[in-house]
Amino acid sequence: MSLSRRTFIKTGTLAPLAAWPPAGAAQPQPAPAAASSAFDPWVEVHAGNLRHNVAEVQRRAGGRPILAVIKNNGYGAGVANVARVLDPLPAIAGLAVVKLQEAVTLRDAGIRKPILLLGPFDERDLEEAVSRDITPMVYTPIGPSLDRLAAKRGRPVHIQICIDTGIGRVGVPWRDAAPLVRDLAGRASVAIDGTFMTFTEDPAYDREQLARFQSLCASLEREGARLGAKHAASSYTLYQHPDAFLDMVRPGMAIFGVHPEPQFRQSGAMDLRPALALRARVIYVKQLKKGDSAGYNRAYLAERDVWVATLPTGHTDGWPRVAAKGARVRIGGRLYPVVASVSASHTIVEVGDEPAVKIGDPVTFFDWEDGSRPEDVSAACGASVYDLTMHLNPLMPRRVI
Ligand SMILES: Cc1ncc(COP(=O)(O)O)c(C=O)c1O
Repeated sequence: MSLSRRTFIKTGTLAPLAAWPPAGAAQPQPAPAAASSAFDPWVEVHAGNLRHNVAEVQRRAGGRPILAVIKNNGYGAGVANVARVLDPLPAIAGLAVVKLQEAVTLRDAGIRKPILLLGPFDERDLEEAVSRDITPMVYTPIGPSLDRLAAKRGRPVHIQICIDTGIGRVGVPWRDAAPLVRDLAGRASVAIDGTFMTFTEDPAYDREQLARFQSLCASLEREGARLGAKHAASSYTLYQHPDAFLDMVRPGMAIFGVHPEPQFRQSGAMDLRPALALRARVIYVKQLKKGDSAGYNRAYLAERDVWVATLPTGHTDGWPRVAAKGARVRIGGRLYPVVASVSASHTIVEVGDEPAVKIGDPVTFFDWEDGSRPEDVSAACGASVYDLTMHLNPLMPRRVI
């Protein structure tokens, strides 16, 4: 019988071959590179939860449009997978990514909504981006390049302007911003679709940043500059600063249904449902005798006879090393502690006095169930929810459900 993941899920109890190939067997042909065995970890993307979270974000934002940040491979979900779900939703005004390659992937996938490129480009990249209807983020004096490009295309180039009001990374510093914005706004070659800033997420300093942004924008608009939609609100801001919702909100993590800070989960401000799950299957179950060890450097020592299970998922898959410091995974409806250390490709869990799990049992590292949400894993072991999702290895299979 050929064993696809689907058939395996139905049969459920098959074991991996202990010795392979068996003595005397013909050498098997290597599997095609894209095929994945039934035991390998995979990522599930819950389309219904993504849609639910968009509705929640829009409710919280008082009906404002959403520029959905889906950078870093769609926060682990696969950038095109997420975009295909979000693109048709009227609440979504556009999508934002940081890498040009991701923006191009979205256009190749047939995504129609505006795409904001929050990352760098040179003049050649700029031409490619604009030719694919990708909106560059501008914060340096590139007016002459925009003139040339607009002349070549016979129409204005649409841009968004990034103002640094205190985060100190990209963006024209707010003190120096007015001349640049005036220059860009005064060019017939340029259409400014938006003007935005990013908070440091320091509650007191955020207020100062917002005041800088609003005063700058107001004075430029009084002069007649058209700044497009003004926006600043990431997921954190959706909870902390309703006065910073402006014309449009710009969250990432909230769309993926995860509260960025533990205290936000209790706040009731939004009912978010995680849209990502990391799963695999148990590959081995064995009993360690008292005094036996598990993991490199004998990280775990059995204090009594105890059963452990090996899972085929490690830090190269995106399951963090720190998970060994308190995280629990769900197998058959129960949570089992991660022990020893998380190595590149393996995790070991303590099962207890009985062999309560078996080879082939599905394992949930995190998903949308209470007790195994990314926030629960984060609370248990200290991993950031951003690391749990964004570090999921892009090579793992994604299943949109
Ligand atoms: C410029 C910008 N805006 C918005 C976001 C979304 O942030 P979050 O995922 O915390 O909502 C990010 C992500 O880091 C970002 O870099």
